[in-house]
Order: sequence, then C-alpha cells, then structure tokens
Amino acid sequence: MTSSDASHDREKVVSKLPGWLRQSLKVRAAQHGIEIQTAVEQSIRDWCSLASAREAVDTAGADSFSTFLPPGQWETFRQIAADRRVSLIQGLAQSVQLWLTANPVPDIERPEITRRIVVCNQKGGVGKTAITAGLGEALAEDPNALHSVQIAKALAKALRDSDTQTGEQSGDPLEVEDLPGLGLRVLLVDFDPQCHLTNQLGAGPLPMNGDSLTNHMAGDPKGDLRDLVVSIDDDTFNGRLHLLPACNDAFLLDVRLSAVRAREAALERALAPLEADYDVILVDCPPSLGLSMDAASYYGRRRDGEKPGQSGALIVVQAEDSSADAYDLLTTQIDDLRSDLQIEIDYLGIVVNLYDSRRGYIATSSLQGWVDIKDPRVVGLIGDLKEQKEAVRMKQPLLSYAPKSQQSISMRALAREIA
Ligand SMILES: Nc1ncnc2c1ncn2[C@@H]1O[C@H](COP(=O)(O)OP(=O)(O)OP(=O)(O)O)[C@@H](O)[C@H]1O
Ligand SMILES: [Mg+2]
Repeated sequence: MTSSDASHDREKVVSKLPGWLRQSLKVRAAQHGIEIQTAVEQSIRDWCSLASAREAVDTAGADSFSTFLPPGQWETFRQIAADRRVSLIQGLAQSVQLWLTANPVPDIERPEITRRIVVCNQKGGVGKTAITAGLGEALAEDPNALHSVQIAKALAKALRDSDTQTGEQSGDPLEVEDLPGLGLRVLLVDFDPQCHLTNQLGAGPLPMNGDSLTNHMAGDPKGDLRDLVVSIDDDTFNGRLHLLPACNDAFLLDVRLSAVRAREAALERALAPLEADYDVILVDCPPSLGLSMDAASYYGRRRDGEKPGQSGALIVVQAEDSSADAYDLLTTQIDDLRSDLQIEIDYLGIVVNLYDSRRGYIATSSLQGWVDIKDPRVVGLIGDLKEQKEAVRMKQPLLSYAPKSQQSISMRALAREIA
C-alpha cells in the first residue's frame, strides 16, 4: 500500500516485517548513522538487482511496518516480486536480510592510547563521583542496542537558553535521539579514601590490611593490581565496565607519597599495567588539592602521539558562586604543574551539575558565567534529579537503574560531547 508524502518527496509504504528483523534493521541503521528509510531503499534496490529470489526468510508473526521510499520504487519491487513468485512480505524480509549481511555491525572505534579522564574539583559534593560513574556507564553501554541520548544540538540550545529555562523543568523536552551504545572497555578508579564510588556501585571498600592502589602508588605492592579490579555486572555493560575499588588507607596517601621518588608519576606507574585492557580510565578524585591530586593531574597529561582533548581534566562544578573560587584554585594548581613539569594537561571541559533553573538568578547567571569561560567549554549540563540519589541508595549504576531518565540521557550526551 502506498500514499504520497510531499514533505519527504517520497511515498509512504505500508507492509509487514517480523519483529526481530525490524529491530535488527533499526539498530543497524543507527549503527551506520543512516535513516531506516534509506536502508530499506538500498535493501530493495539490491534485492531487485539480484538474479533471483533468495532463500526464504521466516516471516512468521510479521506485523505492520511502514517507511518512505522514492516514488515508483515500491511498484517496481512489486512487479519483480510477482515475477519471482514471492509475496511482498517475503520479498521485503529477504531485502532487509540481504542489507543486514552487506552492512555488518561496525567495529567499535577504540583510541590508540587509553584515554585517561581525571574527574576533579577539590570542592566537596559537587557531583564528581556521580559524573564519573554516569560517564563511565555511558561509555560502556551496549553497542548493539539503542539508548536515548539528548543530542548535542539540544545541549547547545539549553546553554543558549540558560537565562530562561532548561530541559524537563521548562516543560519543553530537549530533542532526544536513540543511538547505539559506545561499547568501550572502561575502568573506573575510585581515587577517594571516602570510597563513595566503591560503595555506590555496591562493591565495598578493600580491607585495610590487604593490597590497594595506595600500596602500589607508594611502591609497596602486595600483589597484582589487576586482582583488585571488579566487574560491574549488568547486561548493558556485558563485562566492559570495571571498578578499581578504594580502601580507607588512601587517607594516608599524601603522607606516603611524600617519601616516593617522582611522586607525580605514582598513579601512572601503578595503573600502567592495567591500561592495555581498557579504552578509557576514569579517575574519581577526592575533594582535596594535595599530592594525590598532582598525581591524578599528571596521569591525565597529554602523552607523546596523543591527540589534544583525548585525556585530561574534567571539572565538575555547580551553578553557584562558591564554585567559581574553587575552580580558580584548581586550575591554578593544574597550570602550576604544567609549567613546573613542562607537560601538557588538557581541560576536557566543565560539567555543570545539580542544575536547577528554578533556583533563579544565582543559578542562571552562574551557568552563564561557566558558559562564558569558553575554554574550557561546558560539555555537560546535568539537572538536579531524583534518579541519581535513588540509584545511589539502591547501589546500582544509574544507567541500568533508570536508563530512560533525563539524568541518563544527559550522561550519554556528555559521553558523546567529550568523545
Ligand atoms: N545531578 C544530580 N542530581 C541529584 N543528586 C545528585 C546529582 N549529582 C550528585 N548528586 C548527589 O549529590 C551528592 C554528592 O554527589 P557526589 O558524591 O557525586 O559529589 P562529589 O563531588 O563526588 O563529592 P565528594 O567531594 O565528597 O567526593 C550525592 O548524594 C549524589 O547522589
Ligand atoms: Mg566523590
């Protein structure tokens, strides 16, 4: 059945397709970054140019499927299907199957050098841990399924409109698109003696008398650091999301580091043996500016052969005045380290967290202040929403606890913004 659709300059086609084939088509088209109608157009064209019909596809349970095709294509297809003595539904199923075979799942794009993202701000409670976890989850999500993402264009619009309203709060939902997961292998490093990230993900801190990242950084390892890593099990991460839990012994890290040679490189030395297993390593920093923060900043420096903006510091702030002073202190420390050690440390961006425009002028004007910095630019705007706290309470990853929440949608946008 066809009817014309002037706006697309295509005609609407209504037919049937089995659910499994429709789902594969939807995901695969998104993986190749093309529209479903384009994929169907290609698939019918290729099927029509075959010498004969293909092996029959099981079309049991096929139900309604509609798309838009160039004018005349469906009629040509109908005639060829009749010549080949196959039903339209069978012909369409064969076409789609053919296209899926010709357009296999694309390889995940992996960085050549493991990316190191240092999530920091010595100001407490701004959301470093929440962002580390949410971003890591978004980077590791299932690449063979579609997930709702707030597209970058919408982020830009939200920032432009920041002096009015944003996101859900305005009753004007931001533009959301379904995209495949990024499928990267991610290690979350809990670099905070408070062990918040460890607790939130339900792992539990490492025992005080055992091995720990602190021991490895202090040059006193008790075993292989890899043995301490745990997998965050959930279908959507499928073994790609790992955590290096913290231990309360990290409260003594600065003291122990003071006796270590080339201590800025202590985190790098400790984590080096793990890097080959991961595409991205995220470090959740403590709210302090001591030697351990220097070691984390150093770990995020740009390495030889690494493109700018791949690794570096991701600064989490809130839209309030006290955040600005904290920001100045942090960037001064990072800039000093840069010049003292003659290294490049990139700023990956600023994430404005816990944003609520209903708080009025202080919130909206502070957000504008962050946007005006421009370099680093604002790469994420995350609302103050209940799902984050609920996920923490449930000790579950946010993106599996509330995958469709505005919070998860924003985390995925952030992951794509800094890619
Ligand atoms: N976007 C958000 N919406 C709602 N609650 C949030 C959000 N981000 C963080 N929170 C909550 O705010 C509190 C502080 O967040 P978080 O622990 O991530 O901050 P932090 O900067 O890591 O703190 P610290 O400096 O102590 O390490 C937590 O209870 C967390 O669940
Ligand atoms: Mg924290």
